[in-house]
Amino acid sequence: MKVSLEKAAALLSHGEVVAIPTETVYGLAASLKQETAIQKIFSLKGRPQDNPLIVHIADVKSLKVLVSDVPCFFDKAASLWPGPLTIVFPANLKNVPDVVRAGLDTVAVRIPFHPLTLKLIKMTGPLVAPSANLSGSPSATSVKHVEQDFGQNFPVLDGGRAEKGVESTVIRLHGNSWELLREGGYSEERLSEVIGRGPVAIKNQDEKPRSPGMKYRHYSPKCQLILCASQEEIQEKENLARGVLGFSDTQTQLPLFSLGKRNVFSENLYELYHNLRQLDEKQLRVVLVDMDFDKTELGATLANRLEKAAAKL
Ligand code: TXA
Ligand code: MG
Repeated sequence: MKVSLEKAAALLSHGEVVAIPTETVYGLAASLKQETAIQKIFSLKGRPQDNPLIVHIADVKSLKVLVSDVPCFFDKAASLWPGPLTIVFPANLKNVPDVVRAGLDTVAVRIPFHPLTLKLIKMTGPLVAPSANLSGSPSATSVKHVEQDFGQNFPVLDGGRAEKGVESTVIRLHGNSWELLREGGYSEERLSEVIGRGPVAIKNQDEKPRSPGMKYRHYSPKCQLILCASQEEIQEKENLARGVLGFSDTQTQLPLFSLGKRNVFSENLYELYHNLRQLDEKQLRVVLVDMDFDKTELGATLANRLEKAAAKL
């Protein structure tokens, strides 16, 4: 149910959960001051309690009360705000409730690039928000997607279709380096250009992943996805499937769900969750995925999301 900006602010201030638009994906928001509402986010999503949430702010000065230390490189990284970048800081434990951090001593923060949500945060103060989807499912990039997961009566601030279509990149700044915790709307290459030192990317999940969300099932439609490395593999496996998730030039006899032009990643990511959700709307059981694209720049983000969606982990 679409609500006005004023109504969204009032609901949030009274301890309700409201879906909000960002440039990446829709978020399921609660006020940082409303712990009961924050708890409710976990139960609405079916989100594991040990997966912490991102705090959304409207300006850099709001960071002060949330963090206990601002690592070097921060100024360079923050030049990418507002935008699809989340930075993990040592938390000010007093001002960021345990439930937001899932018991960690760090807090993830970002300034989203969406005029409505920036206005909203100025009215309400910091908003805690994970992506507005049921845990494990493809993220929501439109009001329709939010309503698919949480019902027609769920309050949503309508900001149109999400412009990027994929979540923020999550990084952690260290003394003289930085780590990539989750691929996202800014590529590793772009971050290296702006921040400077090359990242120490976490490719394998260690026993205690630094970004707890990485260990859970993610972005998965109900249907089974079979990743195909080449056009030949698609042709070989056509008899196993009822559709293909690919690009405008993918050759197939099956119905094609197109992510737009091959290797035009901004377009491909914009179309990604919309198409993953379409596969379930059409009740397809098995779908082939055309993975024959460059894995550099935002192609790495596209590959990451498709691999996770297919692996169901
Ligand atoms: O674009 C986005 O980031 C969207 C919009 C709504 O802002 N939000 C989003 O939130 O994708 P969520 O909850 O779906 O993903 C947040 C990721 C999870 O992988 C979580 O584990 C990680 O950020 N994270 C949150 N707090 C963290 C922390 N203190 N340390 C390490 N990772 C953290
Ligand atoms: Mg999510």
